[in-house]
Formats: sequence, C-alpha cells, structure tokens
Amino acid sequence: MIFGRVKPLDAILATAQKKSLHRSLGAIQLTLLGVGAIIGTGIFVLTSEAAQKAGPGMMISFVIAGAVCVVAALCYSEIASMLPVSGSAYTYTYAVMGELLAWMVGWALVLEYAVAASAVSVGWSGYFVGQIKGWFGIDLPVALISGPYVPGGIINLPAVVIALLITGLLMLGTTESARVNAVLVAIKVTALTAFVILALPVMQMDHFEPFAPQGWYGSGGAGIVGAAASIFFAYVGFDAVSTAAEETKNPQRNVPIGLIGSLAICTVFYMLVAAGAIGSPLGSQPVTSALGEWLAPGSAELGARCSTLMAAGQEPLACSKEALAHVLREIGYLNVGNLIGLAAFLALPSVILVMLFGQTRIFFVMSRDGLLPEKLSSIHPKWKTPHVITMITGLAVTFTAAFLPVGKLADIANAGTLFAFMMVAIAVMLLRKRDPNRVRPFRTPALWLVGPLTVIGCVALYFALPFDAKIVLPLWGGIGLALYFAYGYRKSHVGRGIIEVHEADIDVPPQPVPPMPGAPTPGGKQA
Ligand code: ALA
Repeated sequence: MIFGRVKPLDAILATAQKKSLHRSLGAIQLTLLGVGAIIGTGIFVLTSEAAQKAGPGMMISFVIAGAVCVVAALCYSEIASMLPVSGSAYTYTYAVMGELLAWMVGWALVLEYAVAASAVSVGWSGYFVGQIKGWFGIDLPVALISGPYVPGGIINLPAVVIALLITGLLMLGTTESARVNAVLVAIKVTALTAFVILALPVMQMDHFEPFAPQGWYGSGGAGIVGAAASIFFAYVGFDAVSTAAEETKNPQRNVPIGLIGSLAICTVFYMLVAAGAIGSPLGSQPVTSALGEWLAPGSAELGARCSTLMAAGQEPLACSKEALAHVLREIGYLNVGNLIGLAAFLALPSVILVMLFGQTRIFFVMSRDGLLPEKLSSIHPKWKTPHVITMITGLAVTFTAAFLPVGKLADIANAGTLFAFMMVAIAVMLLRKRDPNRVRPFRTPALWLVGPLTVIGCVALYFALPFDAKIVLPLWGGIGLALYFAYGYRKSHVGRGIIEVHEADIDVPPQPVPPMPGAPTPGGKQA
C-alpha cells in the first residue's frame, strides 16, 4: 500500500539531531532572512501586472495574498520546528502522508523554486535593460531582450546570462552569507523607502478611481482576486525563515516573530509602494485594446498594444518591465529612478540564488531517498556541491527564462507553491490529531481556524489564477505520477525497507553529538 510508505518521524529527527546546528539566530536576524528572501521581482516588476489585472484595487490584492501567506506561515512554523531538516514541505509530507503525496509535493516544489528562479531572472532582465538605457542611453534590440511573446522578440538573453551565472556560482559552492544578505536587504529596503518618500506626497487621489475596473473576479484571471493570485509571488520565499527553525534561539518566540514580522514589513511596504504607483502621473488603470477590451498580461495582444503605445511616446504602468523605476522617472526623478533600478539590478540575483539553491537541495533529498536516480545527488569532489543536479536544474531554469514572460512564470510558480502550502497545512493538522503529545517547539495558535483558512486561501487563489497557469499543475503532476511509478516506486529506499539516518545534510558541516535516545540505528548509506 503506497500510502503506507511513511518515512518514520524519528528517523528524520535523528538526522536533524545529528546535524545539531548551533542555535544562534534571533528575532531580528530571522526577520532579515525573511525580508531578504521575500522582496524581489514581485514588487519591483509584477506591480505592473497587478495593475493590469486589478487597477487601483491591487492594494486589496496585496492584502489578500499577504493574509494567505500569514496563515500558511503559522502552519509552516509548527512543522518546521518539529522537523528542522532539509526538504521542506516534501519531507514533512513524507513523514505524515506517505511517499506518493510527498513525491507529488516535491514535484510541485519544482514549480515553486525552479520556475520562480526563472521568473526572477526575467524580472532582473527588465531592470538590466532599463539600466543600460537609463545610464548609457542605449536601446538593446528587442529580439534579444524578450521571448517571442513580444512582437519581434526571440530570446531573453540577459535572463539567460544571469540564470547561467547563478547556476555556475552554485555549482562552485557559493551560498549567501548572513552579512551579504543584510547588505542586500538594506539596499532593497532603502530603494522601496525612497520610492515611498518620493511618490506618496505627489499622489493624485483621482487616480484611485475607478478603484476596481475589473471587479473582484474578472475573466481570464483579471480582478482583485486574480491579481492577488499573481502578486502572491511577491511574498513567496518566507518559508526560508521556517527552515531556519533549528538554528534559532527560543524558536517558540522567535520563529513566529521572524515569519510574521517579515511578512508584515513586506505587506506594509507593498501597500505603500502600490499606493505611490497608483497615485503617480502614470496611474494604474489597465491597458485596453483600441476597442476598449481588457488585455491579459503576458499576452501577445497586450505586447502589441504596448508596442503601439510606446511608439506613440506613452508607457503605461502595465507596459513597464521595471515598474518602480519607471514610476519615479515619470514623476520627474530621473536619476533616483535609475538608482532604484540599480538596487533591483543588484539585489534580485540573490533571490534567484536562494530559489535555485532551494530547488537543488530538494532534488538532492529526493534523490537521496531513492525517488530520483542517485547519480543526481553525487557530490563534486572538489566543490562539495551536488553539481549534476544543480547543472540540470540551472539549464531548465535558463531555458524557460529565455522564452517565457515573467508574469506567466510567476503564475506557474504560484500554482506549485499554493499546492505545497496547502499540503503543509493538512500535514500539520493530521499530525496534531495523530501524535498530539510529540514535542512541538512552536505550536500554531488556533490551528483549527488557521489550518482550514490556509487550505481555503490556497484553493481560492489557485482557482483565481489564469487558466494556462492553473492547468500546468495537473499536467506537471501527471508527468510526476508517471515518473514515480516508472522509477521511484521501485527504487524508493523506504519502499525497499531502508530507513536512513544521514550523517549530515549537504549544506551543513557535520557536528559530533551524543546519540538521540530511542533513535533507530543508522541502516542505510550515508550522504
Ligand atoms: N518573493 C520573491 C520575489 O518577489 C520570489 O521575487
């Protein structure tokens, strides 16, 4: 019975025990970690997309998406503090709901991490192009800076270059240090603060009308809820905080502060930034066809319409690939606009790094469990990194970044993320029922309200995504199922009765610790 293939919690905990990380992170560091992983393409680029979907009502969209993330974050914290090991939602599901569902979650996490890395690469490309134009006055040829979704576009070369560069760095073993993260957070927060300080005082309140031109639910993913489903991307990444639970001092207090704190800071910033963009001379009303029909973001029709408008000297917010810099330039702050662009240019690659790193580590754990070929988890003798899986993932990320628009990639990433968040909430509730006495360094408050709200929120946002993003999840899931039955089902270590306790996870140096009472004897191969 495949649902019975559960990875014993104690074996997972024994792995964590062996890692035994030093508890050094406090509330402030955790919050910084969260803000560093969260702020990226979502706010710097996808604000245009939210405007196209919801108009000024995008302010509410930011609140809805933030609220779903807060309840999901509370669920994440409980299970991450119980199972502080690599693999995130995949590992949690393996322990609670068994191998098949764990595989499906791990497979969906590819959409969260790898596709998100693609989306951020494309977002970065927009700022790169803006920098070249802003500082040097050079217009790069459209054929080389956009995929075929824009008239004349062939390939997004800057996105290709940055994705390959980050892949190379990861293969060589680069991880972001806390100090670099703090500097990048400072750059991002300064950029957003400058935007708010300059844009809010000149806000034109009449630009808030009509507030919701596409209503709550428009067709084709339009409307306030549709925009919330897309702008959800702006919050993705907070799970980085929950995965650091094991390294946190007093996790019961500090993990929720880090999670809720980073989400709250970002939500406030996002709302202020959205208000500034809406009230700016550009306004935020959706671009329509010459006949007044709404045009979907990322569509060839919108691309063509934007080209026409830009040829006529207009660049509405929804057409901009570097939304925030563009708004400031329109207000009259040309150089500050360019500097904000520079901040995004400098800081976005670290988000790509975090996402790609997360993806390779999840694949690594899945391959170590026997669900993917072991060759994939081989470690380079000199670099000490899982170079094979990093290269394969990096090439896939590069390929999608080359040809797809940022909004579509973000929507697809959101579909996978929403599925994973939902499964985590279900796992937390199941575990409370089945194993109520197990030690929980952090307990989700009001779980029987927060858990169902997470599930409902994730399902509602998923269904508000555009059809093509929604359909990717079941299609991708179908491919995943076929692969599982063709390979993982037979090769799974748990299925073959091998319960493994690993000496250490790839990203953490081994530390000698006393054996954990009651932990099973190591039975399998070691990583
Ligand atoms: N939240 C991250 C971003 O917006 C993924 O880039």
